[in-house]
Amino acid sequence: SIRSSLQKSSSTAAGRRSYSSESAPERKVAILGAAGGIGQPLSLLMKLNPLVSSLSLYDIAGTPGVAADVSHINTRSEVVGYMGDENLGKALEGADVVIIPAGVPRKPGMTRDDLFNINAGIVKGLCTAITKYCPHALVNMISNPVNSTVPIASEVFKKAGTYDEKRLFGVTTLDVVRAKTFYAGKAKVPVAGVNVPVVGGHAGITILPLFSQATPQANNLSDEEIVALTKRTQDGGTEVVEAKAGKGSATLSMAYAGAIFADACLKGLNGVPDVVECSFVQSNVTELPFFASKVRLGKNGVEEVLGLGALNDYEKQGLEALLPELKSSIEKGIAFANKS
Ligand code: NAD
Ligand code: LMR
Repeated sequence: SIRSSLQKSSSTAAGRRSYSSESAPERKVAILGAAGGIGQPLSLLMKLNPLVSSLSLYDIAGTPGVAADVSHINTRSEVVGYMGDENLGKALEGADVVIIPAGVPRKPGMTRDDLFNINAGIVKGLCTAITKYCPHALVNMISNPVNSTVPIASEVFKKAGTYDEKRLFGVTTLDVVRAKTFYAGKAKVPVAGVNVPVVGGHAGITILPLFSQATPQANNLSDEEIVALTKRTQDGGTEVVEAKAGKGSATLSMAYAGAIFADACLKGLNGVPDVVECSFVQSNVTELPFFASKVRLGKNGVEEVLGLGALNDYEKQGLEALLPELKSSIEKGIAFANKS
């Protein structure tokens, strides 16, 4: 019958993937800052992810509404909203992945570092709670400045004795998403098949797209065009901040990027092979303690930090130029976590 052949083909497909969403392990994902500009669409996208069984939405305000709304969607996960500091523990308990988009966004004229004074304290508080309630979770840090908030998180975890460098990620996926989009547009190739590694950090010139390693490799781009693509990728966040004219920074494209990265983390945890994404992680790739590069994800988080591959002269110059700024942003985060 049609039904049995359908069942047969779907079970074969599931067998090929080695699991289906129904038999995928239970996974709790917590979003901290879930009622914000990123948090809301990210909550929606994570509700659509069949790898999630429990979706925990935390914010200082507004989460009951977001959770009630998202919970009506007929997908796998159970959704619970938690509001206020006294409920943060429950929001985090048992989480496999914690995504952190909590904090203030930029307005025109600001750098990401201008957010440090407010967001550093927010991140420190949330990470302290993670050490108590879900010390083994994979942490996906979105809050800016990522170049400093990731080092802050690492210091908070070290002080609590829970630090595992394999489980802390700065989310730089939006830089990759932008590089792919801009490159495909210029090279006139279908965007769906494009890949571009982006390394370094997540602010201005610390964002270094490696177009020499882009696939498919386009031969129709001049050096000037590559320089322009590099600049546009580095300034992508500012492009959105200016277009929003005071109403914040990227939220929708960030939610998409955050959902891609969290999905990769979940796949890694579930044992799917060859899951590779760029991320800002503890690293030996350069002399700096943290650096974004391609990372292979696995059952423990980072399985392998991949090297930079071959760089052309323009990319080598970009790498040299970004190291001092990235170094000082990392040191600023470490100093903050240790002084207060
Ligand atoms: P937003 O102001 O719209 O939302 C932030 C949310 O965080 C708010 O709902 C707020 O209530 C919540 N919040 C504040 N303090 C909190 C706390 N202690 N605990 C839990 N929640 C708290 O801002 P947004 O547009 O969603 O941006 C959030 C952050 O993400 C900003 O720092 C922004 O710069 C950053 N960002 C990063 C990337 C990236 O690529 N990594 C991209 C875009 C934005
Ligand atoms: C981005 O890259 O869009 C984010 O980091 C937000 C910002 O301030 O640019």
